[in-house]
Parts: sequence; structure tokens; C-alpha cells
Amino acid sequence: MTLHQTADITQAVLDRLSPDADPRFKQIITAVVRHAHALIREVDLQPAEWMAAIQFLTRVGQACDAKRQEVILLSDTLGISMLVVQLGQARRSQATLADATAAVKPTEATVQGPFYWEGAPVLPLGADIGQGMPGEPAYYSGRVTDIHGRPIAHCCLDVWSGDGEGVYDMQMGDEAGMRLRGRFHTDADGRYRFWSIKPYYYPVPADGPVGEMLRAMGRHPNRPGHIHMMVYADGYVPVTTHLFAHDSPYLDSDAVFGVRDSLIVRYDRHEPGTAPDGRALDRTYHTASYDFALATAA
Ligand code: BEZ
Ligand code: FE
Repeated sequence: MTLHQTADITQAVLDRLSPDADPRFKQIITAVVRHAHALIREVDLQPAEWMAAIQFLTRVGQACDAKRQEVILLSDTLGISMLVVQLGQARRSQATLADATAAVKPTEATVQGPFYWEGAPVLPLGADIGQGMPGEPAYYSGRVTDIHGRPIAHCCLDVWSGDGEGVYDMQMGDEAGMRLRGRFHTDADGRYRFWSIKPYYYPVPADGPVGEMLRAMGRHPNRPGHIHMMVYADGYVPVTTHLFAHDSPYLDSDAVFGVRDSLIVRYDRHEPGTAPDGRALDRTYHTASYDFALATAA
């Protein structure tokens, strides 16, 4: 062996890390090198296969633009985004989870996805964000409390979803503007209520390299019907989550692994008539009720 050759290339790469590098960066890049080298050894990766992987990752990058984030989609469909969400929530809620006096668990988090749009209109309780959009009307109501069941007043629910055909405003073209979005604030008793539509299942964008990967894996690209919520109030750990329709297809095979049992909600179907808030409906509608709980911020 010459001076320039190292028997263990993995150790050789790690030895080049400067002792002055940021400690957290060092920890992460060390794990990246170790795991990547182990993966290549495990599958005995061939040069042509590595070139195919490079071309795939290049196409993932090239598919990104102002409206499309194929790298996040890759992370989502490989379960990486959801794993990061779960670890983050466990870390932030540690104190709460250890609190033996807690009456309720904090609401579980799930992936944010690419369709959040900051600055949705602030609307009065009871407003309808689904008006004029395809889909059956749904009335959402419930409470936001802390883990002791005490109401959180003036808590913001920033809500967004696709329409009753699974299409988000961001996919409708520039002229559509914001649709099916709104920010609602709980009343003094922590209660919220609003109208939207019953969400429908839809595919994540599958016309790019991530779609190719899903097909090669023998997977479908669909997400079960869900409505997104970001729930936050001063002094509490915010939660970004969804409510999933209990009767939607794909609950057991979400393309991005975002389903938690605790987030599956019954949508009760009603014939035309008077809704719980007194509104007269001339078509079928649904009611969905869900209580959120937030952990206290450290
Ligand atoms: C969504 O739910 O909006 C979503 C999440 C991950 C990837 C694509 C869409
Ligand atoms: Fe979504």
C-alpha cells in the first residue's frame, strides 16, 4: 500500500473532516458517509446503476421550479418527511408526554405538503371557504384545548384543502387565486366552526421522476381525502396536521405515509335540510367534528 492509498475508503473520507467543523454538521456528514458507503457495499452497486441514480437525482432537481418541489416530493414519498415530523413532534412534546396529569394527548402532526400558502384570509367563525367550489359541503366544528382540557381562546386554525375533486387552488392556474383556504380564531371557549367541502383523494404529482420511481416500485401516487390545518396560539407548541375522511380510499396506503389513526375523522352524511348552525342546505352535506389539543411551549 502506498502513502496515497487507504484500505478503508470510508475511514479515509471521515479522516478528512476538520476538527474545527461545526459539531452537529460533523455528526450528520459522518452518518451520511457511513450509511452511503454501507448501502453501496450492501447492494454491491454497479457503475451503471450509480450513473442511473445520478441521472435520476439530476432530473429530480431539474423538475423543481417556483411551483414544484420535486426534492420534497421525493422525501415525502420515501417516508423521510413524515419521519422528521414524528421525531420533531416527539422532541417538542416531551415534557407534555411525560406529564402524568395530562387529560388528553397533543394532536398528532403530519406532513405539511407543498400546497400551504401563507396569508390566507382571516374569516369569522362559521364562514364558508368552499362556496362555489366542486364538492359536497362539510361543516367542521370542535374545540382547541391544552392537554388538561382547558380551552385555548383566540387560537388560529389556518385551514387549506383541495376541492371535491382533489385539486388545490395552486394547481388551478394563476387567475384562480386563493380558494378553500382561511384562518379562523377560536372563541372564548376554544370553539371553532367553518364550512368547506368534504375532501376527496388525489394523486401527488406523478408526471416527473418521482412518479417514475413510484411506478418502478409498484406503488400508486394517491393520498386519502384530507383537509390541512396549522393550529397555533401563543405559549403552545404549534401543530401542522390533517383531518382524514374516515371513508376515503387509500387510508391504508397514503403515498406520503401521513395517516395517523388519531387523525381519521367521521364525516356524517346528511340529506338536504337545516345544518347544526341553522343554515338551510338544498343538497347533501356532511358534518365533521374534531377537538385539537396543543402542548404547552417549553
Ligand atoms: C398534500 O397533502 O398536500 C401533499 C403532501 C405531500 C406531497 C404532495 C401533496
Ligand atoms: Fe393535501
